[in-house]
Amino acid sequence: MEKLVIEGGQRLQGTIRASGAKNAALPIMIATLLAPGEHRLTNLPELADVSSTLSLLGRMGCPSLVGDSTKIDTTRIAFNEAPYDVVRKMRASVLVLGPMLARQGEARVSLPGGCAIGVRPIDQHLKGLEALGAKFELKGGYIHGTAGRLRGADITLDFPTVGGTENIIMAAVLAEGTTHLRNAAREPEVVDLCNFLTTLGAQIEGAGTDVITIEGVTRLTPASRPYPICPDRIETGTWLCAAAITGGDIEITDTDPAQLTDVLTKLQEAGCTITTSGTSIRCQGPETLRPFELTTEPYPGFPTDMQAQLMVLATLANGESTVTEKIFENRFMHVPELCRMGARIDAQGNVATIEGVPTLTGAAVMASDLRASAALVLAGLSAQGLTEVLRIYHLDRGYEHLVDKLKGVGARIARISDAVREESVMLAALDA
Ligand code: EPU
Repeated sequence: MEKLVIEGGQRLQGTIRASGAKNAALPIMIATLLAPGEHRLTNLPELADVSSTLSLLGRMGCPSLVGDSTKIDTTRIAFNEAPYDVVRKMRASVLVLGPMLARQGEARVSLPGGCAIGVRPIDQHLKGLEALGAKFELKGGYIHGTAGRLRGADITLDFPTVGGTENIIMAAVLAEGTTHLRNAAREPEVVDLCNFLTTLGAQIEGAGTDVITIEGVTRLTPASRPYPICPDRIETGTWLCAAAITGGDIEITDTDPAQLTDVLTKLQEAGCTITTSGTSIRCQGPETLRPFELTTEPYPGFPTDMQAQLMVLATLANGESTVTEKIFENRFMHVPELCRMGARIDAQGNVATIEGVPTLTGAAVMASDLRASAALVLAGLSAQGLTEVLRIYHLDRGYEHLVDKLKGVGARIARISDAVREESVMLAALDA
């Protein structure tokens, strides 16, 4: 396996192009199942989760060809199943339930089980699909769903779940009649999915609000033009934090400032100077960061996927910050690792109190989820000395070309075998 080696203390400066959003790409790739034929997607990021989704589609009988414009052929579906070995690696696989029930009348999906950030049940997905007429039974760890033609329904979610909203929309677009989905998730990735479905002929209103209305149609057809995946707001936010934490100056291009309003406000509160123009955001980090309070919430509130990265800024602020996590029950795995780098954090339940320190010091650290790993990279960029970030397969799931992008703005970072222990070899890798 490999690890990242980072020598902290460089002031990062330059431009980074935002990649396509992982969390928009995954549901959109799965939504191609709804319309038999050849689909073309552009701005698809090169990520492990994208490859896993293409391989899942391949196992269902839908081949793909990766390129600047990736082709997915969903003419025939040979197997109605998302097997355990794929779902285990990538929970988003449960999103095949909606499209498969709508197109095939059957879907077998391994139950995802818990993951590092919490139990993550899918009760709201199932409740919505049942309201549309699907029936489910649990056998051997698999959810087996069957349905005749789905029928539109009035559905109110208990919580605005992102995946649940996406699954229900994908089922409802081919249902007979009208579906009103209330308390729906408003995340930009849900809007991107709805925009994509509209290019296939779906009739959807209210995407981006908490009531989405879907008028079912009898068939969908692939669009004649390639569909561009929206920019990744979480990747954008992560690189803005890299500027903030190194007192640097980074401009992110090809992004959408409107999707990051809350993150930008928080960065300003922390003392950063933020300038937006069109599709770019520039962040100039301050000499000393200021403390802040943040609470994660469904969009348009502060995103849980940026919580760990902001917490790293708080570790270096001149005072006490508090961070409250309200979306997932176990999303503080970065805390003990940051403490190993010298951070002073007291986490009680879902509230972390962070007393800023003047500097962090490099250490060997590891995390068990994607955003926690990103936080450790940020900590390493500012820390004194060498930081080794282990288990980087998490980062490969969500950050395209991470090493090249950070090197491009002046970071001392390299990817090497995790068997390497000698400091001299690590330093040589940074100079290569
Ligand atoms: N929940 C339920 N029942 C359900 C569905 C969700 O109780 O039926 C709970 C979950 O357990 C969790 C909360 O609701 O506590 C939020 O879950 P949600 O369904 O909104 O999240 P998701 O669809 O599983 C997506 C992203 C996550 C992101 C969350 C929240 C994808 C592929 N994943 O997950 O992204 O954190 O929305 O915004 O879109 C990441 O990129 O690192 C990541 C974890």
